[in-house]
Amino acid sequence: MTDKQTESKPWGGRFTESTDAFVEEFTASIRFDQRLYRHDIAGSIAHARMLAHVGILKPGEADAIVAGLEDILADIERGAFSWSIGLEDIHMNIEARLIERIGETGKKLHTGRSRNDQVATDLRLYLRDEIDHLCSELVRLQSALIDVAEREASSIMPGFTHLQVAMPVSFGHHMLAWEAMLARDHARLIDCRKRVNIMPLGAAALAGTSFPIDRDYCAKLLGFDMPAGNSLDAVSDRDFAIEFSAAAAIIMMHLSRFSEELILWSSAQFSFIELPDRFCTGSSIMPQKKNPDVPELVRGKCGRVTGHPVSLLMLMKGQPLAYNKDNQEDKEPLFDTIDTLSGSLRVFADMVPAIEIHHARMRDAALQGFATATDLADYLVRKGTAFRDAHEVVGRAVRYGIEQGKDLAMMSLQELQRFSASIEADVFAVLSLEGSVAARNHVGGTAPAQVLAAVAAARQRVSCQVTKVTPP
Ligand code: ARG
Repeated sequence: MTDKQTESKPWGGRFTESTDAFVEEFTASIRFDQRLYRHDIAGSIAHARMLAHVGILKPGEADAIVAGLEDILADIERGAFSWSIGLEDIHMNIEARLIERIGETGKKLHTGRSRNDQVATDLRLYLRDEIDHLCSELVRLQSALIDVAEREASSIMPGFTHLQVAMPVSFGHHMLAWEAMLARDHARLIDCRKRVNIMPLGAAALAGTSFPIDRDYCAKLLGFDMPAGNSLDAVSDRDFAIEFSAAAAIIMMHLSRFSEELILWSSAQFSFIELPDRFCTGSSIMPQKKNPDVPELVRGKCGRVTGHPVSLLMLMKGQPLAYNKDNQEDKEPLFDTIDTLSGSLRVFADMVPAIEIHHARMRDAALQGFATATDLADYLVRKGTAFRDAHEVVGRAVRYGIEQGKDLAMMSLQELQRFSASIEADVFAVLSLEGSVAARNHVGGTAPAQVLAAVAAARQRVSCQVTKVTPP
């Protein structure tokens, strides 16, 4: 076996010819898995320390390996590491360089380990960090929404169902609806993190290793909650990635709905808000245009993030136990999910505090569309009319209003009394926007007092969320 290329592969021993040049490129993952370098090195350092702890390596050997790995880390971080396609992936690139740097001792690092448990460990360590980062971005966006909600607790906008004006609501209440979605998203990520934080290392290729390893020791070094309980499952399980990407797709769906409203609201027809110029772009042909690109892109990006859990489910559905090379395909969907989501959260958290609100315009819109019709029906109920009859009476008043081009609050008492003799002068208090909003004064309602109470509760909840994300 003299072929140079074959000889240079860490697994070249049983091969008689070198890998086809295109196959080498086709099977390599280094182009995308190099981003795991920090976690691969952390995993290797813990593995080396554990090997020394149980006496498989001499303390000096482990020290040499750790020092070599730290040098490699520094090289990578200053851009002085050249990646080789021939060495397939992040694991073999780093191991080969270690052997080059420290010699024979470097060849002992892979004792009692396989790339199968190594890659699963790297991915979990990497995802754990990314989840923590995403959680902090979620908290930043939640906090921004809570601040706007507090400021705008008494600002009135039309609330919609079917995109038709339904009832007046507090703008702050609307902000807190978005925040509530993100709070659930945060809880989902925290829950997912528990299943991410389990250590595959020690499962080796699939069956465990004949060396007397100490998996608890290693798990502790890496901040894992525990070692995985079944070696076959440990190397083949990608549930954590599927679960994470599903949680991410839900977050993107929320951001997409949020985007849709920002796009509508910033149109000339709604004109409820103005997005800051620095978050918009112009048109190359129409000089007057200011386009809401950021929310449009986030709405668009929801598409591919939604596709990733499907890719991962399909990746896994036909795989027999244990590790199969198919699993190399888990990385690109996972990485794209993380990049897209983290960018979207970042730009939203930056943009939300800078949104300008057109209070008068929003209030005017709430005055159109008979937003207080339900208040009039409720008023009649309080005066002794059954709700179904009250509904009918108000429906007739609305029909009259449409014909006359008058909102209910604009009608005279005499005009209103044509529909029900129970209507008296006190009706105008309930027909005002402020009266309507203030009347919904119960937990979860839109009354400004309730919105302020919800702001306080949300702040309290978010401060607990922050403490839940504890670095390893
Ligand atoms: N690059 C591989 C992956 O991403 C690493 C594990 C390879 N294991 C193997 N037996 N070929 O899954």
